[in-house]
Amino acid sequence: MGNWKMNGSNSMVKNLIKELFNEGEDIQRASQKNLIDCVVCPPFVYLQQVAELLNQKKDSFLQLGAQNVYCESEGAYTGETSASMLQDVGCRYVIIGHSERRQIFGEENDLIARKFIKAYDTRLIPVLCVGETREERESGSTFDIVRQQLQAVMDLAPIQYFERAIIAYEPVWAIGTGLTATPEQAEEVHGYIRGLVTEYHDIASQVRILYGGSVKANNAADLFSKPNIDGGLIGGASLNSKEFLSICRAALVGV
Ligand code: 13P
Repeated sequence: MGNWKMNGSNSMVKNLIKELFNEGEDIQRASQKNLIDCVVCPPFVYLQQVAELLNQKKDSFLQLGAQNVYCESEGAYTGETSASMLQDVGCRYVIIGHSERRQIFGEENDLIARKFIKAYDTRLIPVLCVGETREERESGSTFDIVRQQLQAVMDLAPIQYFERAIIAYEPVWAIGTGLTATPEQAEEVHGYIRGLVTEYHDIASQVRILYGGSVKANNAADLFSKPNIDGGLIGGASLNSKEFLSICRAALVGV
């Protein structure tokens, strides 16, 4: 899943989608065999444009996601976007509680839980992001933080929602820093997350858990080889078609 964050322009969007289609025929075939789900999450203003580009392609392997959503259905919420609007323009996925939303825009666990539920109830697939800061890791509280972030959602949402929802572990210290968690560090937390979901429901083995934080073509295969890492949430590297497609290929190794 590519999170383009606040990057792009009309022409960049057009070129990137064109390149992904031109260079990604192998991923297209893999997607037709249901071996991979491949999603791009452009900024809101380009969602419609990307949706149209994807519709022009027969059986596009790229699916559409948004980077955020609001928890209410409609009304006086200036600047916000509802889940049904995202549905309306063709989104299937939405990222919820990204650490940049938590840190820069002050989103707290309760709001994130309400967004998660609204997205799910509107038939979007919520991608719930969790992860600790560097200070939290260094003080040994990684598991506590991840548990609190997940628990806030599990307290409000029926646990069955995780059959369709996706969890993304994104250690804040690894985002955009070039510092990737080692496959072992990531796997440890992914295993912990799966264990937490198992406490509530036996669906845990099916829950998809993505890793995000400086995933690149040259480290993706090692990360994805771990049993509890089911894919990636890719920032910077998703803006480059070759990098992004290489990461998708790494996800196909061994499937
Ligand atoms: P980078 O891949 O740029 O580190 O970003 C990760 C991320 O935040 C994806 O949501």
